[in-house]
Amino acid sequence: MKAIQYRTYGSSDVIEEVEVSIPSIQSENDVLIRVKAAGVSPIDIKIRMGFMKEARPVEMPFTPGGEAAGVIVAIGDGVTMFKAGDQVVALTKTNGYSEYVTVNKDFVLPMPEGLSFEQAASIGVNIGTAQSVLFTAGQLEKGRKVLIQGGAGAAGGAMVQLAKAAGAYVIATASGKGVELAKNLGADQVIDYKSQDVARLVNDIDLVADTAGGQAQEKLFQVLKPGGKLLSIVIPPSQQLAEQYKVKAGFVASDISVKTLQNGLELVKAGKFKPVVSKVFKLGEAAKAQDFLTAGGVNGKVILTVD
Ligand SMILES: NC(=O)c1ccc[n+]([C@@H]2O[C@H](COP(=O)([O-])OP(=O)(O)OC[C@H]3O[C@@H](n4cnc5c(N)ncnc54)[C@H](OP(=O)(O)O)[C@@H]3O)[C@@H](O)[C@H]2O)c1
Repeated sequence: MKAIQYRTYGSSDVIEEVEVSIPSIQSENDVLIRVKAAGVSPIDIKIRMGFMKEARPVEMPFTPGGEAAGVIVAIGDGVTMFKAGDQVVALTKTNGYSEYVTVNKDFVLPMPEGLSFEQAASIGVNIGTAQSVLFTAGQLEKGRKVLIQGGAGAAGGAMVQLAKAAGAYVIATASGKGVELAKNLGADQVIDYKSQDVARLVNDIDLVADTAGGQAQEKLFQVLKPGGKLLSIVIPPSQQLAEQYKVKAGFVASDISVKTLQNGLELVKAGKFKPVVSKVFKLGEAAKAQDFLTAGGVNGKVILTVD
């Protein structure tokens, strides 16, 4: 089968399409999936660049890809929930950029009806991340004010939708075409971060969810009410600033599991969550797809399709 591999760390030039054996079911709880679409995430790029060597070491050659959608072709003896032919979403952790992948059944869920494989491959990491930040760590409740930094991004767009569905007042930052997208996803207010100063326009926020990181994060302390929370999925926020502004601040490592996805999946099934696919590339164009994501201004999930 075809798979995408990094043999070494580096620029997208290290990305190769290779021929490898189809993986076999190793445990009675595994399912073997014929991948139809795979999500491309910033972490795939951070791993390739060698930025995750300590936090998430990998062995080379390495096949990236934390999520996929496809069709089950074989199941282990202990799998009763699925059968060959089922269309599923898989939280693969790695190896999504391949024609076939094996996944433990506990990280597989039935593909919601009405979604394309491309849309289905876009929901796992984003919904799991949004749920982890807004509700598990952020304890967001109806009527609270949340600011989502990067509200038209892959994770941010999911946060906008989940926060709105929970009855929060949602403010998003975005730029370019992302301003319109964040509004369409349900944000009550959208701030164009390239032309407007969020710290001047917003205050009294209960929860800030930062999906952009960088220096822009520091400004976000100013918009919180005392006792509010700043949670980042990119870089750990300054504890010194948290003390100064009398707020809580922390980094969230998302729980991408079937359990964490339940709330978002209900919204998907009810038509209240729109999967946002930014651009679709072929598996063999993985380098192009990652470069597209690296360039920014992406607005939604980048997907690889597998013929
Ligand atoms: N901790 C975790 O568990 C976890 C889980 C998922 C993702 N992540 C990380 O979260 C980050 C976002 O992931 P993603 O998939 O959502 O990426 P993405 O789709 O590229 O989204 C990033 C968003 O940030 C916006 N942005 C960039 N600079 C900004 C600034 N100065 N102010 C406001 N917004 C800004 C971008 O808007 P423009 O395009 O308009 O500039 C974009 O919408 C990545 O670093 C990823 O590795 C972490």
